[in-house]
Amino acid sequence: MESEQTSPADLAEYSKRWDEIWRTSENLPPWDTGKVCPALAQLIEEVKWPLPNKPNSQALVPGCGTGYEVLYLAEKGSPSLTVTGIDMSPNAIKEATKYRDSIVSSKNTIMESATRTNYEVADFFDFKIPENRYDLAFDMRFFCALPPSTRSKIGQRYGEIMNKGATLVTLMFPIKPREGGPPFNVSLKDYMDAFGPYFDLVYYNTKCKTVEKWADDEYIGVWQRR
Ligand SMILES: C[S@@+](CC[C@H](N)C(=O)[O-])C[C@H]1O[C@@H](n2cnc3c(N)ncnc32)[C@H](O)[C@@H]1O
Repeated sequence: MESEQTSPADLAEYSKRWDEIWRTSENLPPWDTGKVCPALAQLIEEVKWPLPNKPNSQALVPGCGTGYEVLYLAEKGSPSLTVTGIDMSPNAIKEATKYRDSIVSSKNTIMESATRTNYEVADFFDFKIPENRYDLAFDMRFFCALPPSTRSKIGQRYGEIMNKGATLVTLMFPIKPREGGPPFNVSLKDYMDAFGPYFDLVYYNTKCKTVEKWADDEYIGVWQRR
């Protein structure tokens, strides 16, 4: 995922490069661990963070990649929760649907939760917002994937697509100082600056579960839409 610094002016070109990474990755792209984010599983299964359960609740995973967390949230959520993964890379969405199909066909029983998942090729900044908006979103290595100059726009967009009281979970990565990107270095202040105008930080864990290669490089935060 290493590349030179990108300015907003060449965002379209930058987007094409994501698809190229997905198209040319022989196995998984470098950020893809092949499994559900451990910090998210910890938040839901150990911290017992509640998932939305009102009728017709909707969750979003922007820049979902292979989408392990899309299936996971649907499985852990109530039967009234629909989870949508969007990625602007058609090749990423191809991988996500392929992965979902492989999981579904490996089960002997009907996987009800998988019927509550959707994948779409879409740009986070410019897709049709569902009428009842989102009650949950999971930002996993998405904030860090975009040029820092777009961060206030990311916060504004989450503010626009989410309901009052909705939960935004952020996997904050990479925390350790680094030059350039993507992934571009992040700090709690960067998230505060971007999300603070719309969300309150209600949970923050700097010692969350992670994979070995990202020890001390990932934090998790939970934000509530005001
Ligand atoms: C670093 S990857 C993270 C993928 C996944 N969330 C993970 O952590 O394994 C960033 C993803 O965001 C997608 N992406 C970049 N800009 C986007 C945009 N504006 N809208 C939707 N997806 C975007 C890329 O195609 C890529 O799949």
